[in-house]
Amino acid sequence: MFAPHPTMTWIGNASTGLLRMIDQTRLPVEFIEIDCRTVPQVWEAIKMLRVRGAPAIGVSAAYGVVIGVQSTSDAAPQQFLTTLDATCSELASSRPTAVNLFWALDRMQKLGHGIANEPGPDRLDSLLVEARRIEAEDREMCDAIGRVGAAFLPDECGVLTHCNAGGLATAGNGTALSVFFAAHEQGKTLRVYADETRPLLQGARLTSWELMQRGVPVTLICDNMAGWVMREGKVQAVVVGADRIAANGDAANKIGTYSVAQLAAAHGIPFYVAAPSSTFDLTLPDGTGIPIEQRASEEITHGFGRQTAPTGVEVYNPAFDVTPNHLIRAIFTENGAITPVTTENVKRVLQG
Ligand code: MRU
Repeated sequence: MFAPHPTMTWIGNASTGLLRMIDQTRLPVEFIEIDCRTVPQVWEAIKMLRVRGAPAIGVSAAYGVVIGVQSTSDAAPQQFLTTLDATCSELASSRPTAVNLFWALDRMQKLGHGIANEPGPDRLDSLLVEARRIEAEDREMCDAIGRVGAAFLPDECGVLTHCNAGGLATAGNGTALSVFFAAHEQGKTLRVYADETRPLLQGARLTSWELMQRGVPVTLICDNMAGWVMREGKVQAVVVGADRIAANGDAANKIGTYSVAQLAAAHGIPFYVAAPSSTFDLTLPDGTGIPIEQRASEEITHGFGRQTAPTGVEVYNPAFDVTPNHLIRAIFTENGAITPVTTENVKRVLQG
């Protein structure tokens, strides 16, 4: 069984340990790990996409909370709580769309509030145990999602994905890519068409790299080729990840996903979303309330160090879009597939 290098790892004990992560901005040319010892370092790593992908952001933030309270070993309960709450607020301000971030911070904060009166070192140990649990659960959810989704793929098929919903985006095997890894291991013959995913090229830099490492046939295409590749009959299914899914199944994912879903519908190709329960936001009845991150215009005008647009041009750079539930054939979760995608079915499957 292939064991990929962990996307992030906690090194050391609770009171002096640190968070080590692959710097994904350097892939695929350089494989470099960075060490985060402070909350601003974790914040910066999330903000700058050194660690990215909804579940990976959540796991990293959970470890970031441990880092944030390391100074409170000798602190009274009130001081501990003040530091804990400030750490959670700071990390929550890094990126707005992936709900896994807020889900993980909420878990850490709730636990912290329940143990504030315990001795300082015990509090730290308990928070590290919880962060490790969030990481381990994510790994298990990835595998379960892979098993669920693989059953939906034909024995021989072309599949298309957008952005990177692979191991690099999680603590385990990924979500959409876990489906491909599972199908491949089951002996299904598949070729993955990876959209390069403008403007930050997660598909080119990360998805094609991961699939090649795992020996899964992959063909890289520019985003604007997806429709033609479908028209040519090369794609029998689309599987993507998600950053936040509303109660009715409307799913936010990397900008461009909505266009792919429309193209899939136009060609009669099933469009699937793969995501763990930690990506659902049941407080939102539908996708209209999902906050969409706006990113710097330089990502478009100066992609990867070279100016490619006139100085001063007005730019619009939303990092995510929302695909409405009616375009989604099924959502693969660790509890099974949600299909058809309706509020009732989301609720039923998530309840187990
Ligand atoms: O901006 P990114 O790279 O964090 O966006 C990531 C995505 O859109 C992924 O598809 C999503 O987080 C799912 S990851 C399992």
